[in-house]
Amino acid sequence: MTTEKTRNGMATLAFDDATGVATITLAMEGKVNKINDDFGATMQEAMAWVKARTGLRGLVIASGHKDFCVGADIDRLYKERSAATMATRLRELNGLYRAIETLGVPVVAALTGSALGGGYELALACHRRIALDDAKVQVGLPEVNLGVIPGAGGTQRLPRLIGIQAALEHIAQGKIVRAPKAVKIGMVDELAATPAELQQKAVAWIHANKSFKQPWDRNAPIPGPQPGSPEARQIFMAASAMLRKKTAGVFPGPELAISSVQEGLPLVFDRAIEIESRYFTQLAISDQAKDMIRTLWFHRTAAEKHEGLPKVEDANIRKVGILGAGMMGAGLAFVSAQAGYTVVLKDVKEEQLGKARAHCQAQAAELKHLGAAGQQAILDRISYTLSADDLAGCDLIIEAVFENLELKHAVTKEAEPKLAKGGVWASNTSAIPIGDLAKVSTAPQNFIGLHFFSPVEKMQLVEVITTETTSSETLARSLAYTRAIKKLPIVVGDGYAFYTTRVFSAYILEGAQLVAEGHDPVLIEWASRKAGMVVPPLQVFDEVTLTLGVKGFKQSRAYGKTNELPAFALVEAMVEKHGRAGKAAGKGFYDYGGDGRTLWPGLAQLAVGKPAPENTGVEVIARRLLTLQALEAARCVAEGIVKNPRDAEVGAIFGVGFAPNTGGPLSYIDRRGLVQFVADCDALAKVCGARFEPPQLLRDMAKSGKTFFERV
Ligand code: NAI
Repeated sequence: MTTEKTRNGMATLAFDDATGVATITLAMEGKVNKINDDFGATMQEAMAWVKARTGLRGLVIASGHKDFCVGADIDRLYKERSAATMATRLRELNGLYRAIETLGVPVVAALTGSALGGGYELALACHRRIALDDAKVQVGLPEVNLGVIPGAGGTQRLPRLIGIQAALEHIAQGKIVRAPKAVKIGMVDELAATPAELQQKAVAWIHANKSFKQPWDRNAPIPGPQPGSPEARQIFMAASAMLRKKTAGVFPGPELAISSVQEGLPLVFDRAIEIESRYFTQLAISDQAKDMIRTLWFHRTAAEKHEGLPKVEDANIRKVGILGAGMMGAGLAFVSAQAGYTVVLKDVKEEQLGKARAHCQAQAAELKHLGAAGQQAILDRISYTLSADDLAGCDLIIEAVFENLELKHAVTKEAEPKLAKGGVWASNTSAIPIGDLAKVSTAPQNFIGLHFFSPVEKMQLVEVITTETTSSETLARSLAYTRAIKKLPIVVGDGYAFYTTRVFSAYILEGAQLVAEGHDPVLIEWASRKAGMVVPPLQVFDEVTLTLGVKGFKQSRAYGKTNELPAFALVEAMVEKHGRAGKAAGKGFYDYGGDGRTLWPGLAQLAVGKPAPENTGVEVIARRLLTLQALEAARCVAEGIVKNPRDAEVGAIFGVGFAPNTGGPLSYIDRRGLVQFVADCDALAKVCGARFEPPQLLRDMAKSGKTFFERV
């Protein structure tokens, strides 16, 4: 056995004379293998070394890090605006991958860890992919999630390997799959129980497949319908139509991914790669990709890592009390137990406890991979009670009773004394200022807001609200808890409705306001989709219930927000006069029943006027919906509720379903341009009213040429 390192030390090169198999073990500086200049240089040198071995019979590409390869160096991708540079890099990378698959001897990718994006494309450029049978090993091409497409052959090799339909599902949806599933689809060829077995299997396969060539280098037909066949055309048409329905045409990434597959497949491989490179470059230098990468990658990762936030070694939280076994309480009890905490769920109604128990059982049953014993272990950690005494010794209590200040005060007084010494008290209120709730607390330094989203099991975001008296230790301990239950935190300041509820309310209220002004409801819903919003405003208003809206109006009036709009009267009339409380009630803005929902025709009668033609239409409505939310976000920055602009972006996208194509409300303002955005607001304020008036902060930024985020 000969072993050497590359000159930069980033790969170990080994050659076993006995088997004739060379192994390149990539272990780049840092914790991960990622595709950048170092990667290129290392692999070029490694390949030259491998080629020079006498008696070479095969090659294994492996990783010395936890993951096989995580794909492109996103820092570099984000900063690059030159199409020419991007195209050159793609040519080099694709040249390298081509050299691997045309080496002349069989090449195996040893996937002891995840292979994602360009990392999985490297595996695709090998002749065989063998993965460790471990749930942590994942493969896939998630590029579209960051506004780009696979650029190192992924859109060409995958469909040639597993067929058009399956490949499109993975490429256009950016799906990532675990190794066992990947074997079923054909994205991985076989599994191995241990790294040693993996190596043995690799060597055995090499010896059994001496003259292996990629299917596309031996003109093999692809699995399933052939390129150009009527069946294939059908698949592409259906995929495009489905995509259109899902994205309303505002995400060019998945669209161009489909084009790349369709246009590339009939061509010889090297020409096909050129098609992919062109589409990749066009996307990668676009504003949309930059904004998506900044928020969905950099800001999200920073939030996940709690960057810039206080940390504790041991949060010292073992027992968690949840007050209120309603929709939120039941979900919180389950996710806490799932994370290993001992949970006491308290309510005042036996019936509610019963419902919560059924909810937790149903949730546990979904975790099939844990088996019956694993599921039961989670359920056994939860106890259900009507007695506050059972909360004794809780290190954290999360209050999720009805949204009512007096009730919340009462339960605080009753249960706070049960906390273990120094225990944390959190409220899941969606709007009541935490400072107001903390007025009855005997330890306001331990008092915090933890605003979760429904359904708790699915929604990643948690809005953490600190008051002026919340201690940094309380924040750190709370953050540690949110990490244990795998949530994505943003940390904001205190004030009525905090941050996300303000942006969300602005959105759904503007939807109702547009109805009240007489805009066509079909147009309102469609315009929101064209703006990139994940769920249309009237649909989502129905989902959260109009009753909640009415309660919200009352509460906001009590907090001195008196910007009365025709929308308020419209929603109140819908609930109080027409009995249309929303989806759960079977009728709201929509009628529900049979096979779906249709907008209620009676909405037109509730309108107080009719907009002038120049003040309506998809573009005007889309602009209004985005502008108002962005304005609310900017006001939150101006008022100090949002302390870090990254949280405004992460919170709006993950909590409100704000248009991900924009990168978030502040990115939207930046991209529109501060001067233009302020002009938009002034113009809209004239037609629609004072709620569109921009805060001074934006006027100042427009004047001084400042932006929320640095431009690349
Ligand atoms: P819910 O109405 O489903 O449940 C409230 C529960 O509190 C009921 O089971 C009720 O019996 C119980 N309760 C009432 N008095 C109690 C007491 N003295 N001690 C213990 N339990 C008591 O309400 P939901 O939707 O779960 O909301 C709870 C809180 O979470 C509210 O503050 C709400 O604003 C907030 N929130 C709700 C969200 C949602 O989407 N539903 C999202 C984020 C926050």
